[in-house]
Amino acid sequence: MEETTCRVCDAPVLEFADLGDQPTANGFLLPEEVAGEFRFRLAVGACTRCRLVQLVTVVPQELRYHAGYRYHASGSASHRDHFAADARHFLEAELTGPDPFIVEIGCNDGVMLGTIAAAGVRHLGVEPSGNVADIAREKGVRVLSAFFDEDTAAAVRAEHGPADVVFGANTICHIAHMDSVFRGLDKLLTPGGVFVFEEPYLETIVSGMAFDQIYDEHVFYFSVASVQAMAERFGFELVDAERIAMHGGEVRYTIARPGARVPSERLAALLAEEESAKLNEPATLAEFGRNVARIRDDLMTLLRQLRADGKRVVGYGAPGKSSTVTNYCGIGTDLVPFVCDSTPAKQGRLLPGSHLPVRPPADFADPYPDYALLFAWNHAEEIMAKEQAFREAGGKWIRFVPDVEVI
Ligand code: SAH
Ligand code: TYD
Ligand code: ZN
Repeated sequence: MEETTCRVCDAPVLEFADLGDQPTANGFLLPEEVAGEFRFRLAVGACTRCRLVQLVTVVPQELRYHAGYRYHASGSASHRDHFAADARHFLEAELTGPDPFIVEIGCNDGVMLGTIAAAGVRHLGVEPSGNVADIAREKGVRVLSAFFDEDTAAAVRAEHGPADVVFGANTICHIAHMDSVFRGLDKLLTPGGVFVFEEPYLETIVSGMAFDQIYDEHVFYFSVASVQAMAERFGFELVDAERIAMHGGEVRYTIARPGARVPSERLAALLAEEESAKLNEPATLAEFGRNVARIRDDLMTLLRQLRADGKRVVGYGAPGKSSTVTNYCGIGTDLVPFVCDSTPAKQGRLLPGSHLPVRPPADFADPYPDYALLFAWNHAEEIMAKEQAFREAGGKWIRFVPDVEVI
């Protein structure tokens, strides 16, 4: 076990789950790229002081985000709807001054800023992955190809002036240099400005056993208490926290300069809920670690049994999460011959590490398998509605969180 210190407050970090040797979760490869694939030990721990849950080893950001980044935020209807609603909210509630300005950290393919651009409001996406940044630009979104940090923030401020809103979704937990991010916010935000970010919630991960949310890109697993401590440490104040339904259950945090906004009642309520659920306590996290191993054993027993019974199992969806599950459990093509996914950039490639081939959804029905292992479980409703004919043909879905279940 490696000894690490907290990336936010420097206190010792206590490891509670080890998911073994893993590649980068969005490192989908071509068959000829298999040799020399990057690997690291995927393990998580919690800070003994500020309670922040974090990866023990962090993969350099340039290996994670680059022109070959496979995650496209606009890939599902629910994501498009959600971020359009976020944009409308900012337009109505925050961007109401004379010449407002919003910055998005990790704008990806412009799923949120597209709506802001269409409304003619000044904006800038900061996005290091060149391929998705280009897609955003095609939507009329202004994008700076860079990693957000103190220097980038200073450059943005110098060129565009202060920002009323800095937004990030499923991005802030990806950034290891949080101290630099907050120094950048200090330079960039107007006195009354807000930093709003939406990230996977530790509570959802723990209570839903969503261990597949743990992968190289997710450096931090925020709780309301740990975000509050982080904001305070870096000279800001957490003023709101709201649960939202994305990715199975996330929290939208609002951070402001100290005293600038009145903290909300729902923030206090969520903090109290965390207390009574003992979310941030070592015993809770240790139990999570033990349950992860149990799910692996149950899933592998089921998949081996189905193979022995001559059943065909295909994977459905190739989210980043599927890399964690397949590599941690050791699921190979002998158990799951391929995975289908609607993202063209993933098709024709192999899942990182486990090397299951990714094929277009059309291959799912050609012919239907007996079972579909639902890797994209956060889109269960959308996918099951779309694939009703599979069930009508006698097909069954396999879920593995919070428990292994055939449905
Ligand atoms: N906001 C979108 C995309 C999330 S994926 C959504 O919620 O679906 C995370 C994105 O953050 C990627 O596009 C990645 O390239 C970008 N990213 C990672 N580190 C970053 C950093 N330091 N600054 C800005 N963007 C970053
Ligand atoms: P996503 O929710 O973006 O998760 P992660 O952040 O873990 O990568 O991944 C969902 C994946 O599922 C994405 O690759 C697209 C795929 N997908 C389908 O193949 N069919 C569908 O109907 C939906 C909704 C998603
Ligand atoms: Zn800490």
